[in-house]
This record gives sequence, structure tokens and C-alpha cells, in this order.
Amino acid sequence: MTTTITATVSESLSKRLKGLTHETHDRLDKSIMAATSFVSVEGYARFAGVQYLFHRDIHALYDDAALQALLPGLAERRRMDLIAGDLHDLGTALPEGGDPAFVAGSIDVPTALGWLYVAEGSNMGAALLRREAAKLGLSDTKGARHLTPAPEGPVAHWRAFTAALDAAQLTEEDEARAVAGANAAFARVQSYADAAFA
Ligand code: HEM
Repeated sequence: MTTTITATVSESLSKRLKGLTHETHDRLDKSIMAATSFVSVEGYARFAGVQYLFHRDIHALYDDAALQALLPGLAERRRMDLIAGDLHDLGTALPEGGDPAFVAGSIDVPTALGWLYVAEGSNMGAALLRREAAKLGLSDTKGARHLTPAPEGPVAHWRAFTAALDAAQLTEEDEARAVAGANAAFARVQSYADAAFA
């Protein structure tokens, strides 16, 4: 009697998240660009306001011990204060927001991993947006600090994040919560963009 062993090589979580959120990302990217966010400083300030509200939602995640253990260097990746500095440079008040999506002490790690995938992945587009911001006279020291790439470059910085994400020991149910987290994060940013550009 012969035994057949079939090894199924399941896709990494980061690859699955990319596939499952690709359309959502495209829609968001198009709605931000369609709103002429990078044609005027006022438009850019509205985009920065959207980024601020999103990073305010996830600010508590960067201090979470369980997430820091899974994602080395997590604390250095936070951007809320940089965005607040950008809005200050632009003479724009910090937008008012409801309760942040996450507060310390009640963080579901798999869900949070999905939200962090969205936040950290957005650094990939930041390199492109930084060039657009420069055309408006904005820079890493005035108005576009939060678009500044990591010293090692956006791709290496992103790869370090996805390698740690993919190394996390998650059950199938955990992974489902991470996917739901990523979708919820994109939906939240889309709702901020829809409100800012209405
Ligand atoms: C106008 C705005 C935007 C542009 C032009 C843009 C552009 C890009 C580009 C070129 C990439 C790299 C794609 C690849 O390597 O395949 C990317 C990746 C990504 N962006 Fe955006 N982006 C924008 C806004 C956003 C926003 C607002 C978010 C979320 C807050 C976001 C989340 C992501 C994520 C999660 C990835 C990683 C996808 C992956 O490789 O898994 N993007 N973006």
C-alpha cells in the first residue's frame, strides 16, 4: 500500500492580506487622488487629516507589549505625532475624532495585526506621495514628516514588518481575525476620506 503525502504550501499571511485587500486599496488610493489631495496645500492638509485620524485610532498598538514582542522595532514605527507636527506646519487644527479604535488593555492581537498591516503597508505608497508633496513645497522637515522613508528604505522596512508578521504563530481563527482587522482598517480610512473630501 502506497501512502501519498501532499504538502500544501499555504500562502503567507501578508500575501493573503495583499490579495484580499487589493481592490479596497485601489478604491481608497483612487478616491484620495481624485480628491485632488496633492494639487494644493489645502487638499494635502485634508489628506494629512485623514492620516491623523487613522494613526490616532492605532496609536495605542505601538505600546502594546504582546505586539512589540511579535514585531521588533514596533514602537519606532508610530506616526501620529509626526502627522500632528505636519498639520501644525500647515497651520491646520487637529481634526476631531470619535473614540480611537484601540485603547491600551483591551487589544485583540490578531485583529491589531491586520490594522498594523494596513498602517505599515501605507508606507509603500508614502514614497510616491512624498514626491507629490515636494511639488507643493513640503518636505521631511516641513509638512510631510510622516511621509519620510525609514533609513533602510521603504521596501526593506516593509519586508522586515511582513517577515515578522508571517512568523507569528497564528491559528486559522486568528488569521481570520487579522483579515477582518485589515478590512476594518481600510473601511475606517475610507470613511475618513469620504468625510474629508465630501
Ligand atoms: C493616494 C494614495 C495612495 C497611493 C498612491 C498608494 C500607492 C501604493 C503603492 C504604489 C503601493 C505598493 C504596491 C505594491 O508593492 O504592490 C502601496 C502599498 C500599500 N498601500 Fe497604498 N497608496 C495610497 C494610499 C494608501 C492608504 C491611505 C493606505 C492605508 C491607510 C494604503 C495602504 C497600503 C498597503 C497596506 C500597502 C501594502 C500592500 C502589500 O504589498 O501588501 N495606501 N500603496
